[in-house]
Amino acid sequence: MSPPADDFVPPMPAAPARPLPMLAGLLRARRDLLSIFPADAYRRQVFTTRLPGRLILVANAPEVVRDVFVVKHATYQRKSRFLEDALRPVIGGSSFIAWGDDWAEKRGAIAPPLHPSGLARFHPCFVQAAEELAGDFAGADGPVDVAAAFAAAITRVLLLAVFGPSVPRAEAAAIAATFTAYQEAAEVVDLLGMMGLPDMLGWLTRRRAGRLAAALRARVAALLRAAGPAGGTALLAALRDARRDDGTPVLAGERLLDEVVMFLLAGAEGAAITLTWTAMLAALHPATADRMAAELPTAPPGFDDLTGLVFTRAVVQEAMRLYPPVAVFARQALGPDRIRRWDIATGDIVLAVPWLLHRHEALWDAPHVFRPERFLGDAPRRRPRFAYLPFGIGPRICAGAAFGMAEVMAVASVVFRRFRFALAPGFTPRPNCRLALRPKGGMRLLVSRR
Ligand code: HEM
Repeated sequence: MSPPADDFVPPMPAAPARPLPMLAGLLRARRDLLSIFPADAYRRQVFTTRLPGRLILVANAPEVVRDVFVVKHATYQRKSRFLEDALRPVIGGSSFIAWGDDWAEKRGAIAPPLHPSGLARFHPCFVQAAEELAGDFAGADGPVDVAAAFAAAITRVLLLAVFGPSVPRAEAAAIAATFTAYQEAAEVVDLLGMMGLPDMLGWLTRRRAGRLAAALRARVAALLRAAGPAGGTALLAALRDARRDDGTPVLAGERLLDEVVMFLLAGAEGAAITLTWTAMLAALHPATADRMAAELPTAPPGFDDLTGLVFTRAVVQEAMRLYPPVAVFARQALGPDRIRRWDIATGDIVLAVPWLLHRHEALWDAPHVFRPERFLGDAPRRRPRFAYLPFGIGPRICAGAAFGMAEVMAVASVVFRRFRFALAPGFTPRPNCRLALRPKGGMRLLVSRR
């Protein structure tokens, strides 16, 4: 019997009572960034840490977030150099980490094929991947790591959307598993580096991460070669056909490869993680799972039907509030600035932390409680606009937000209609923030037909 929705607090790391001394904080951050925030981080508007030669400022109030990520985009458009270093081996200089004119040009090339007005054409890819995943769940004998299963299914969506049906299904699972292994190998660079700390990545780990990154790129390069110069879908054609004013292609050769790898990873990561946390919440709160199932149609919904699934959407949005897939946005100041009473020097790090904003005591009632009703009716309109940022904010907001939401809803509407989820015996879910907010050790659930 699940507790009433009003009281249910799903898993979160225990907050230390007081700020940790620097060394203890660093050691903890290596394991999990979220576990270093003391209880008062969920109340404060701005707070800072000074490390040798670098200030880290956390923008923890909606108006400060707006100032940094929207108004002062010119100063704060660069993601941290260390995040760039963590991702470059895999996604090269793609739009996700580019900045300045290079970013603007690449963003101009990738945004049009992802525009909400053209999303319906991807719906068959969403449904095909969802049906294949449902087939796997139906045949499951024993606990399933749904984190890996959703990652493979959503990578499958992206492969279908970019290359079409000729790519074997097994390719999706291989790409998703290699990226998971890469994240584990690259974890130290990303976390400590993002905060401006010395790169303590051992050479062994670095070599392993490098090998995994090269393997990933080689796989995708082979898919591009197999597609040939005119193959793939309309989405791939749109990337290939983007032109500068002088008629030269924006994306060709390695630059095209960078962008396609980025699509497969950025496009899959957020959606797969969202589905994973939603499945955990369904497992821990069966009353919510039953209410979703009651709303969902027996056959996969059409694209236009997705907007009518208001309760399921609210559960997904609440899952993204409690477990934002990108839990930290890091920016490195390109010039001097002043935020409230703090002077920011070039190179200082400014963070927005959706994990904190989404659980801020001044912005949310009972912030750690699972309550999908927060996203029903006009409740969202009564909250400050910059309090909820699952897709980021400002000019660098997720280019695939509408695509991501549609793929999550399409897959959710199939799996939560057909299956019940329960925690595997002996398994405890643990949120763990590295490059993204994934469950540590996966998400082992029992999956049974409704
Ligand atoms: C539920 C699914 C998704 C979530 C939660 C998500 C989340 C995010 C977030 C938070 C950012 C901003 C990070 C920052 O500012 O530091 C971002 C950026 C980005 N995302 Fe997504 N994303 C999702 C799906 C997708 C999909 C489907 C695509 C493409 C097919 C995509 C492509 C991108 C790109 C290209 C950027 C970089 C934008 C830029 O810097 O101009 N995302 N995403």
